[in-house]
Amino acid sequence: MKSIILAGGSGTRLYPVTKVVNKHLLPIYNKPMIYYPLSLVMLLRIREVLLVVNPQDLESFKKLLGDGSQLGMSIEYAIQEKPRGLAEGLILGEKFINGDKVFYLLGDNIFFGHDLPKIMKEAMKEVQERGGAYVFGYYVKDPERFGVVEFDEKGNVISLEEKPKKPRSNYAVVGAYFYDEEVVEIAKRVKPSKRGELEITSVNEEYLKRGKLRVKILGRGFAWFDAGTHDSFLEAGEFVETIEKKTGLMIGCIEEIAYRNGWIDREQLIKLAKTMSKTEYGKYLMRIAEE
Ligand code: TTP
Repeated sequence: MKSIILAGGSGTRLYPVTKVVNKHLLPIYNKPMIYYPLSLVMLLRIREVLLVVNPQDLESFKKLLGDGSQLGMSIEYAIQEKPRGLAEGLILGEKFINGDKVFYLLGDNIFFGHDLPKIMKEAMKEVQERGGAYVFGYYVKDPERFGVVEFDEKGNVISLEEKPKKPRSNYAVVGAYFYDEEVVEIAKRVKPSKRGELEITSVNEEYLKRGKLRVKILGRGFAWFDAGTHDSFLEAGEFVETIEKKTGLMIGCIEEIAYRNGWIDREQLIKLAKTMSKTEYGKYLMRIAEE
C-alpha cells in the first residue's frame, strides 16, 4: 500500500495567517502540522508517500522533508494547480499509485489514540485482502462542517452527505481513507459539486453504492482534530502539549518513528538530532538515541 497526503488547499478559514504561509507548515505545538499525518503513515509502515502541494509551496515542503531518504522512506510531490477539491489528489496521484491500494490522508487532520495504529492496520489489512474502501466516523458537535455518515439500527451505512445543512447524524467522516485500486477511476468520474469541488464524499458514495464501503466509528479514547480553523488549530496544539508534557514522549515525531521502525539507524538519528541540538526537539531525539 502507498499513501497520499493532501497538503494543498487555500486555507481560507485560517486567514490572514495562511495568506502567505501554507497551513500544513504551521506549528501544532512544537512541530509542523504535516508531521502528524506523515507520522500516522509511518506508524502503518507505509514507506512510499506522495504529498499533494500548491505550486508556490513546493520548495518549502522539499526543504522540510526532501525526498524522505533521511527517514528511510520515499517522499514524492505532485502539484495541484488549483484547490479543486479533495478527490483531485487521487487523480493527480494516478501514476504514483500505479495500480496499488492507497491510504489517503488530509494533511490538516490530526489523530491520537492508544490503539490507533492497530485499528488503522486492521482497516488496511481488510482493504488489502478484500478490496473496497474503509473510512472512519467520529462523533462531532458540528457535523454540518464535514462529510456526514448515517447508519441504520444495525449499524449499516445508509447515506453519506457532504456538509449537509440538516445533518442526519453527528458522525463526521474523518480525513483518513483506505481505498482499493478502483479509486482512481472512481475519482475521475466525480463531477464537481455545487460549490465547484471534486468531493471525496462522492468517491465514498460510489463505494457505498457498490456495497464496498466499510465505516468504523472511532469512539471514546480517540482524539481527532481537523486543525483548519483558529479554534481547532489551537485546541490541537494544546492537546499535543498536554499529552507530551504528561507522558514525556512526543506525538508525531517522524525521526523517532523512522528509528523505531528500523528505517534509520542510531547514527542517522544522532545526525538528525545534531541539526537541531540546541532545541528541545533535538534533545528529545538524542534521548531516544541514547535509550
Ligand atoms: P479543507 O480544510 O477542506 O480546505 P482548505 O485547506 O482549502 O481550507 P479552507 O476551507 O479553510 O479554505 O481541506 C482539507 C485538506 O485537504 C487540507 O489539508 C487541505 C487539503 N486540500 C488540498 O490539498 N487540495 C484541495 O483542493 C482542497 C480543497 C484541500
